[in-house]
Amino acid sequence: MSRFNVLLFTAFVSATCAQFIPPFTEECRTDMYPPNGPTFKGGVGWYTVDLDLPPHRRWTPLITDKKNDLVSMIQVIRDLATAFVPSGRLIELVDLTLPLMVDTLPDPFKDEIKGIALDSGIPLGEIALFNIFYEVFTVCTSVVAEDAAGNLLHGRNLDFGLFMGWDTKNKSWIVSEKLKPLVVNLDFRRNNKTVFKSTNFVGYVGMLTGIRPHLFSLTMNERFSLDGGYIGILEWILGQRDGMWMSFLTRSVLENATSYDDARKLLAQTKLLAPAYFILGGQQSGQGCIITRSRELSLDLLDLNVKLGRWYVLQTNYDHWEEPFFLDDRRTPGMTCMNKTTQNNISIKTLYNVLSTKPVLNKLTTYTTLMRVSDGTLESYIRDCPNPCMPW
Ligand SMILES: *[C@@H]1O[C@H](CO)[C@@H](O)[C@H](O)[C@H]1NC(C)=O
Ligand SMILES: *[C@@H]1O[C@H](CO)[C@@H](O)[C@H](O)[C@H]1NC(C)=O
Ligand SMILES: *[C@@H]1O[C@H](CO)[C@@H](O)[C@H](O)[C@H]1NC(C)=O
Ligand SMILES: *[C@@H]1O[C@H](CO)[C@@H](O)[C@H](O)[C@H]1NC(C)=O
Repeated sequence: MSRFNVLLFTAFVSATCAQFIPPFTEECRTDMYPPNGPTFKGGVGWYTVDLDLPPHRRWTPLITDKKNDLVSMIQVIRDLATAFVPSGRLIELVDLTLPLMVDTLPDPFKDEIKGIALDSGIPLGEIALFNIFYEVFTVCTSVVAEDAAGNLLHGRNLDFGLFMGWDTKNKSWIVSEKLKPLVVNLDFRRNNKTVFKSTNFVGYVGMLTGIRPHLFSLTMNERFSLDGGYIGILEWILGQRDGMWMSFLTRSVLENATSYDDARKLLAQTKLLAPAYFILGGQQSGQGCIITRSRELSLDLLDLNVKLGRWYVLQTNYDHWEEPFFLDDRRTPGMTCMNKTTQNNISIKTLYNVLSTKPVLNKLTTYTTLMRVSDGTLESYIRDCPNPCMPW
């Protein structure tokens, strides 16, 4: 970029952001739970996914129920793609090439995605695209905290839809808004017994937020890097398939890992298509960590250490040993509120307060999930961020 362009860009960013100041931040919230008021848009319904069914039939009840919302979401993505490449060539490419890629996906993901396309009547390539999105565009906040009694609590805001269509009239992200009706809680069962639970978007077979009761809780946050997800996905399409899709790894860990340590090891050591942060919580004192991943390896492991005063770990979308990007600092406000809460007063309730404080809560926040491994609790809430509110 030339100097002039940099100046123009800076001016543009400043002008765009100026309308959102104040407030970048607000006082730590205290009375948000049970969820109420304008930041709470509604509860989240439960569905069962029966793992004993063949993969292509597992999602049928859910897709049948939510078909209209899914179709309407995919239409928004189509419109955005057409606005971007007006000839319609982009969607044509998706419809032609991505179905070929689906066949290269491992089981059960291949058949699950095919089943969802059949059940919804949406072209296979577009369902595949919907499943790829989260590998590259998820910005969030996750926290694992240990209370004074040694219970582990895990909370997260899922922020999604950055740069995907800003609705100037409504001051909201079009895709983020469309995703809200697609948020569901899922109970994955085998022999009619819960194996794990998750908060998910309908039509998506990977996992961003989940719990295996009495063993561990897990969330994934996007990690931006020059060697980012785009390259890994391109390599996959070109035939180099030794890396794993990030959200397929989280799903298979939730489905198969037998302990916190087992999960920690799988998340740290499996080769990935995209860099990521995994935030893992357990059942016993000290079991909580942030795993910072490059595609190849684990770059850093930050564990809870109550003796050292580290009774919680909090992760947004920046390496914890670096400063966050100055226009997107959700870490400092998040940590300020955690510190104010103190270990003596941390609970599902106060964790929700932290996750309800702007800009930890922002225009991209679609849902907040709270988990407690010791009794298998997973509860989630659809969020709204009324103006004035940061766009991210
Ligand atoms: C603990 O948190 C609750 C809920 O936010 C708050 O009302 C209460 O004042 C806090 N207690 C202390 C000792 O900080
Ligand atoms: C504006 O946003 C709300 C949700 O915040 C949505 O229900 C409504 O349909 C949107 N209006 C328009 C015109 O997009
Ligand atoms: C599965 O378990 C639930 C309760 O956990 C029960 O209501 C339901 O009848 C069971 N279904 C079958 C097929 O056994
Ligand atoms: C929160 O407390 C920790 C531990 O005392 C400290 O390292 C950190 O700088 C504090 N952060 C903020 C934003 O207050």
